[in-house]
Amino acid sequence: MKFETQAIHAGQDPDPLTGAVVPPIYQVSTYKQDGVGGTRGGYEYSRTANPTRGALEECLAALENGARAFAFASGMAAEDCLLRTLCRPGDHVLIPADAYGGTFRLFDKVLSRWGVSYGTVRQDDLDAVASAAAARKPALIWAETPTNPLLSIIDIRALAEIAHAHQALLVTDNTFASPYLQRPLDLGADVVVHSTTKYIGGHSDVVGGALVVKDATYVADLAFNQNATGGVAGPFDAWLTLRGVKTLAVRMDRHSANAALVAEMLTEHPAVSAVYYPGLPGHPGHQVAKAQMRDFGGMVSFRVAAGADKAVEVAGRTRLFTLGESLGGVESLIEHPARMTHASASGSPLEVPGDLVRLSVGLEDPGDLIADLEQALG
Ligand SMILES: Cc1ncc(COP(=O)(O)O)c(C=O)c1O
Repeated sequence: MKFETQAIHAGQDPDPLTGAVVPPIYQVSTYKQDGVGGTRGGYEYSRTANPTRGALEECLAALENGARAFAFASGMAAEDCLLRTLCRPGDHVLIPADAYGGTFRLFDKVLSRWGVSYGTVRQDDLDAVASAAAARKPALIWAETPTNPLLSIIDIRALAEIAHAHQALLVTDNTFASPYLQRPLDLGADVVVHSTTKYIGGHSDVVGGALVVKDATYVADLAFNQNATGGVAGPFDAWLTLRGVKTLAVRMDRHSANAALVAEMLTEHPAVSAVYYPGLPGHPGHQVAKAQMRDFGGMVSFRVAAGADKAVEVAGRTRLFTLGESLGGVESLIEHPARMTHASASGSPLEVPGDLVRLSVGLEDPGDLIADLEQALG
């Protein structure tokens, strides 16, 4: 089945009891057992398994072409569960020098206290990644592409080769692209991470996360830890996410088309000194993005020529682009990464420029969006 068909049907057969065409919200904590140890369909307690969450997990596994998916209460809960499953005290992880600030915070402030160290490396410089892998012998390499917030493009196939040559696993955060635009497991990654809060959910009404694994190797350990640590997606959250994912393909097409128009306008605007969008032919990762992505996505970042204070002003002056964190919803958002989403990376190698503004380009009319940015840029 093609992607669009899987998004609507995978894990979503009509309900066997009533024929309901949408998987019901099994808002339940526990299940009647047919005698001690006699569970129906394996359901005993909703932290361990829940049919609505199961439907979402089956759908996400199909969309990423993985062996199994696990749905969590947030992207960070998914990341935490994954790292505590794959890493042991004494392990080292190579992380990108440009990544979501919360991922950096997890390594820097939480996992470091449990003996998991990290090193940063620019992953668009493959020689630098190879030398760092040879020197530090990481248990895994953590990648994000396109990166948050600088929209760098990382060659997933090349990174997987480097990781595997050094007996490391490659984990790819696919939040910015979504499985419609890019499938990291097909390109050699071992695990995909999502903040389903973003494009997969798509409507800014639910926080969630997911892991998708390529093969069966870590399925039992992840299922054990998902249940043992308990950061699971609740039934209603899983249902909302599944409702969002059905339209992922059409939304990503429109996000990409609108973002391309916005990026084009920004490159010509005198108040803008740089535009980061992988769809622009001048973007250093354009050719790799073209090869590994179906389209270039809905995220655009740019730098304001007059500096950081002016960038803050611009972010506060739009009317249609709502000033707010997060991304990937139908409505356009604007933010100032250095003071908002990436404040936790201040003073670190992941610190972002103060004159940077990040846009999540939504599904509104592109002419209206461009007019709004033009008035905000003055
Ligand atoms: C690329 C990326 N990964 C992970 C996360 C964390 O996800 P959540 O906010 O759902 O915990 C985010 C959140 O912004 C993100 O942008």
